[in-house]
Amino acid sequence: MPAEAVDIKVYFKNGRELVDRLLDQYLPAEDAEPRTLHTAMRYSLMAGGKRLRPVLALAAYEYCGGDPASNRTGIHYAMAALEMVHTYSLIHDDLPCMDDDDLRRGIPTCHKKFGEAVAVLAGDALHDVAFELMARTGRTEAVIELAQAIGTGGMLGGQMGDVEAEGKELTREEIIAIHQRKTAALIRCAVRVGGILAGADRRTLEVLTTFGEKIGLAFQIKDDILDIEGDRTLLGKNVGADSKRHKATYPKAVGIEQAVKDIGQLVAEAVTLVDGHHDNILKDMALFIGHRES
Ligand code: IPE
Ligand code: IPE
Ligand code: MG
Ligand code: MG
Ligand code: MG
Repeated sequence: MPAEAVDIKVYFKNGRELVDRLLDQYLPAEDAEPRTLHTAMRYSLMAGGKRLRPVLALAAYEYCGGDPASNRTGIHYAMAALEMVHTYSLIHDDLPCMDDDDLRRGIPTCHKKFGEAVAVLAGDALHDVAFELMARTGRTEAVIELAQAIGTGGMLGGQMGDVEAEGKELTREEIIAIHQRKTAALIRCAVRVGGILAGADRRTLEVLTTFGEKIGLAFQIKDDILDIEGDRTLLGKNVGADSKRHKATYPKAVGIEQAVKDIGQLVAEAVTLVDGHHDNILKDMALFIGHRES
């Protein structure tokens, strides 16, 4: 191993700790009014989670030559914004009118703990703070990138497709179209924003775009598989939820064996895109996505 090589586990741990510090710093204080809302925001956001999207943004930023210790270009704002948007999407995804889940990140879901009205508002409020933070980067492209990734052409469009697909038999292609929007769009956004803030050129941003799309799709296919054969304690959420709600999932369309193969293929293609670069963290993160158990 070259002297400068960084262990992915250590990178993730340091990244998670940084994200936790940033979230604590940028969130409204719990004892500030409206207390219930601020408490609910912190409850879901500080419950842990892999912090994959902000750590990916950081890795892409470093890949493009950015200095991770400094917030001169707003990377820390962007990282916190990405995690807040993701957590807002989880709070709303878990609501009774959506997936109706009662366990998230190892604790009762936001609506189970605080009620549905507070959960809706906590999600909205995280979305709001996220855009304020992204605007603080001073980079309009980064704000537009986030808005488009989570709007009707991205995450929300995918969530709409997911809800409409309940109870239906979808083809592999139709499921890919949902997964690309509901999950891959925000993951692609994370790596692209890292690149944008580091001043990456067009060619590098194109590489990051394709990389993000491939690992983003692989990530959601793996999520579908873990819902079938994952461990509730490791995942911090209930398993078997998709079949209970008659969700259209990737393994349902192609079988688990083929789904595992397709993840391997997507990860291999993603690795090829960034292999050979002096900084191999993005490559290791792609490999992690293929093998993760939580
Ligand atoms: C869960 O995301 C929702 C999906 C998009 C599949 P994560 O698996 O990243 O959840 P946390 O952030 O680690 O809790
Ligand atoms: C969630 O997908 C995607 C978003 C929140 C945008 P899932 O519904 O499969 O995520 P989990 O399994 O509840 O974490
Ligand atoms: Mg869902
Ligand atoms: Mg769900
Ligand atoms: Mg799922």
